[in-house]
Amino acid sequence: MESIFRIAKSMAAIGITVAALALGGLYTYQSSIIYPSSMNGARAHVSTPDEYGMEYEAVKLTTPDGETLECFSLKQDITNNYTNKTILILSPNAGNIGYALPIVQLLYARFRYNVFIYSYRGYGNSTGTPSEKGLKIDADCVMEYLKSDKQYSSSKIVLYGRSLGGAVAIYIAEKYGDLVSGIILENTFLSIPKTVPHVFPLLKYFTLFVNQIWDSESLVPRINENIPVMLMSARQDEIVPPSHMDEIYKKLPSEIKIKWKYEQSTHNDTVVQDEYWERVEEFVNEKVN
Ligand SMILES: *[C@@H]1O[C@H](CO)[C@@H](O)[C@H](O)[C@H]1NC(C)=O
Ligand SMILES: *[C@@H]1O[C@H](CO)[C@@H](O)[C@H](O)[C@H]1NC(C)=O
Ligand SMILES: *[C@@H]1O[C@H](CO)[C@@H](O)[C@H](O)[C@H]1NC(C)=O
Ligand SMILES: *[C@@H]1O[C@H](CO)[C@@H](O)[C@H](O)[C@H]1NC(C)=O
Repeated sequence: MESIFRIAKSMAAIGITVAALALGGLYTYQSSIIYPSSMNGARAHVSTPDEYGMEYEAVKLTTPDGETLECFSLKQDITNNYTNKTILILSPNAGNIGYALPIVQLLYARFRYNVFIYSYRGYGNSTGTPSEKGLKIDADCVMEYLKSDKQYSSSKIVLYGRSLGGAVAIYIAEKYGDLVSGIILENTFLSIPKTVPHVFPLLKYFTLFVNQIWDSESLVPRINENIPVMLMSARQDEIVPPSHMDEIYKKLPSEIKIKWKYEQSTHNDTVVQDEYWERVEEFVNEKVN
């Protein structure tokens, strides 16, 4: 009841018309705010691993509802000091998979893991429009593919999700626990409605109108306790409050869970912080077994 009074008060303050416009706009345009896949020309050009000197297979997957997903598959030579580990990269919400190629290069060329990365629907060269429902169908489709592939399915699969990708990783880990051997989460959130007020303080009374939820908070406690998890948390994150990462850490039932705090880091510069990649390599080599 108290919150209803507060809503009423704030509506009166800013004016019913403005509020209605804001609500309508929020409801209609939230997808392009939450999934800014076209920002800065990210759908016009997608760089490919060969530009970084890596051989790869361009895989196209068709989802059950008819979208085509663009994927880069980078497999190691199994006869040469093979690590037998695969990193499945789940991308953040801006840019395209080409932006992640420096990361792919570290994971593939330096640490010698297999790497699989794909564009969500409506991103990069994948068809369609992004939505929570659609991105979950895409994740299912990718997991079915990895399961059907001999080299991937016999390797230890580690999910690496940054920001929105963390929500996709949590969805996959909860649903496909027996196919997942490790999880790395960076600056991800408890849910979209709990993140909105932090990014757009004016919208804090209107989170009921958010239709993209990504309810990681409810899924995290159901992740198999045998899956080791490492959290990378930027303490100056201006988009996702770092307290969300702390809550996720608390709710994780994992026997092995590690949280690294990057005190000077903001939302998207965590990958360039000191020790970040040493910690990734150590986690995958020593905790994922
Ligand atoms: C084999 O891989 C391990 C782990 O990545 C690495 O430490 C080692 O140097 C590699 N050995 C050779 C001969 O490449
Ligand atoms: C992406 O799509 C564009 C235009 O449809 C095409 O020219 C380009 O080759 C595609 N890139 C990849 C990596 O498939
Ligand atoms: C990878 O590990 C699995 C067991 O986890 C094993 O069955 C498989 O043979 C290994 N693959 C290679 C190429 O060594
Ligand atoms: C972070 O995002 C900003 C703005 O979107 C961009 O200019 C910058 O290059 C990004 N930094 C990293 C490390 O990705």
